Amino acid sequence: MLRLYLVLLLTLIGFTTARAQSLEKAREDSLIEALLARMTLEEKLGQLTLYNGGLAQTGPVVMTADPDAVRRGRVGAVMNLFGAEATCALQRQAVEESRLGIPLLFALDVIHGFRTIFPVPLAEAATFDPQLAEQTARVAALEASAAGLHWTFAPMVDIARDARWGRIVEGSGEDPYLGSLMAAARVRGFQGKDLREPSTIMACAKHFVAYGGAEGGRDYNTVDLSERTLREVYLPPFEAAVRAGALSVMSAFNEIGGIPASADRRLLTDVLRGEWGFEGLVVSDYTAIWELLFHGIAADSAEAGRKALVAGVDMDMVSGIYVHKLAEEVRSGRLPEAVVDEAVRRVLRVKYRLGLFEDPYRYCRDPERERRLLLAAEHRRLAREVATKAIVLLKNEGNLLPLADTLRTLAVIGALATDSASVLGPWAATGRPGEAVTILEGLRAALPQTRVLYAPGYPEAPPGGFQEIVATALSPDTSRFAEAVAVAAQADVVLLVLGEHRELSGEAASRASVALPGAQEALARRILATGKPVVVVLMNGRPLAIPYLAEAAPAILETWFLGSEMGNAVADVLLGRASPGGRLPVSFPRATGQEPLYYNHKPTGRPPRAEEKYTSKYLDVHWSPLYPFGYGLTYTTFAYRNLRLSSSRLGLQDTLRLTVEVTNTGTRAGEEVVQLYVRDEAASVTRPVRELKGFQRVALAPGETKTVTFELPVEALRFWGLENRWVVEPGWFTLQVGPSSAEGLEARFEVLAQSTIRSR
Ligand code: NOJ
Repeated sequence: MLRLYLVLLLTLIGFTTARAQSLEKAREDSLIEALLARMTLEEKLGQLTLYNGGLAQTGPVVMTADPDAVRRGRVGAVMNLFGAEATCALQRQAVEESRLGIPLLFALDVIHGFRTIFPVPLAEAATFDPQLAEQTARVAALEASAAGLHWTFAPMVDIARDARWGRIVEGSGEDPYLGSLMAAARVRGFQGKDLREPSTIMACAKHFVAYGGAEGGRDYNTVDLSERTLREVYLPPFEAAVRAGALSVMSAFNEIGGIPASADRRLLTDVLRGEWGFEGLVVSDYTAIWELLFHGIAADSAEAGRKALVAGVDMDMVSGIYVHKLAEEVRSGRLPEAVVDEAVRRVLRVKYRLGLFEDPYRYCRDPERERRLLLAAEHRRLAREVATKAIVLLKNEGNLLPLADTLRTLAVIGALATDSASVLGPWAATGRPGEAVTILEGLRAALPQTRVLYAPGYPEAPPGGFQEIVATALSPDTSRFAEAVAVAAQADVVLLVLGEHRELSGEAASRASVALPGAQEALARRILATGKPVVVVLMNGRPLAIPYLAEAAPAILETWFLGSEMGNAVADVLLGRASPGGRLPVSFPRATGQEPLYYNHKPTGRPPRAEEKYTSKYLDVHWSPLYPFGYGLTYTTFAYRNLRLSSSRLGLQDTLRLTVEVTNTGTRAGEEVVQLYVRDEAASVTRPVRELKGFQRVALAPGETKTVTFELPVEALRFWGLENRWVVEPGWFTLQVGPSSAEGLEARFEVLAQSTIRSR
């Protein structure tokens, strides 16, 4: 009886919710249609236009809005303008002085924090902890929304397999599974449960798609890849973002096999909207519509605009082409007005879902909230915690780390140790270098009893534009080596801070060599020759090729760009107050020539074998990575035992359950990231040598053992089959459970009977 009652109650709740949702949808539709009916063609095209509010730019300004554009209804959204007062003032123009009073959207690249800066996304991926990424995105949204923003151009969910590509720093690395979990977590963090809440902002999954596949790792370059790789590697994080509710997507700069992504109707409309049911708004990347001219698929800007809109790009980021050129296209009959209307509906829909028609000032009306939230103490605390978890210990010979806090003299060598701008990393929104803790500052604060000496060793970044900074970072200048060696000679331990200035990383920051820049390796040789114990602290936004350090330095810590609390977090880990918790979300090469380098590569017909000449390898460098994907040490050690499978024969609908015992065999507490990889041994198409299918972070006290359980649905073994659809094929699979992609316990299981399964 009680059960019946419960079932009825749940049905009633379900029914009421569904009814409320459909009423809400009807309200949304009727508002949109009523507005659309009143709009002139120019006002419609205005809604499809995003202009620069005048601050940071990442490309040319090809057309600027005239000062009266907002009042005349020729602008739908504004980027790079923020602050409660500034956004409210412009919103007032749109709402009170334009004919239809449609509110503006305010957008900014809030990539890893707004004013409190968190670790760069690649570093956050190294935590292998999507919940942390969700939390930092939530705080970024709190701060950004308090500054009047509605929309962030994040998360960047591009898979990056080539370390030369500077933008590898902005994403979650090379793996689609980790990348998908991180993408969804960040969307949830930015958007919260209800976008109407003024503390949430709309996410934008970018750059759709395969932008990270640029030939030669050169930014903005051509991409050419198979449908299978697109489906299995580059699209999944976008699908995950969309399924997590991302309400906008950015179309990319690159072409894929002859079709620029910003004019690709199959991807933007058939896949994104048709297959995945995406209801939100597609915005072009910065001048990407104008760039269709340079790609050579449009004879003039009107044609470029037409092609982008028809493909499914709803909003034109700063090209000004939609608003200036498309009215004529419609009037001449070359572009159906219905296509414009559909895009306008999508723009109005996101404004509706952000609650802007209800209250256009809800994000900006409280300057007090803005003052209170930006750089709040609890935000900094989270930044410090996440930063410690993102640090990856690459080497620790003789347990040189952690350092004792009774050290008498510590020498910090390396200009990056005092570089407060680099600490923040690229894309640091409104983060201020003066509010960030450098490595030297962090150590001095943590070691009040120790004499902490400093010498730059290589040139400090000059004030000035990026060209001067890059030239300095790459300069072979050795003039400060002698001073650095003299300082090192006085110390008990040397911290050698090497890596990249933040200008060597990020957009338009590809490198043809991923070795240490400038004279840094030469400096390292001199410092190591002193015979002092040397801990190398790397600061960088990409995998670096550091074979010499890997060989010669006793300890290496990868610290990326960790944000506002970097110095404190690095000190916490160096001194053992926190344990290094990160694992590599990207493979580190031995030499640049190995790029693109990624763990989930195909086997080839001649897998490399050292003793066989005619196999797939290099003559001068070992084929394997210097440090593999998933790798990272801790201050303790772990052992894996007793891998057990619930069954070694599974049907297509089944879920494999596997357990493994992990023991902390050292003397300190630590966290292990237990990783599960699978290989499909033989299929109708070639399959990667292994693919990540699960991971878990487990904390273990010394001597403690925990049993870790994974559930692996057979459906997760799907791939893009011969007939261009997802399939799981029967046959044998090998799985590997362990501490990285390169080692672990193995077992085999068989999947029985074939079938094609739905995409979801
Ligand atoms: C160009 C970049 O590719 C994109 O990621 C960014 O969101 C826009 N510029 C806007 O700043």
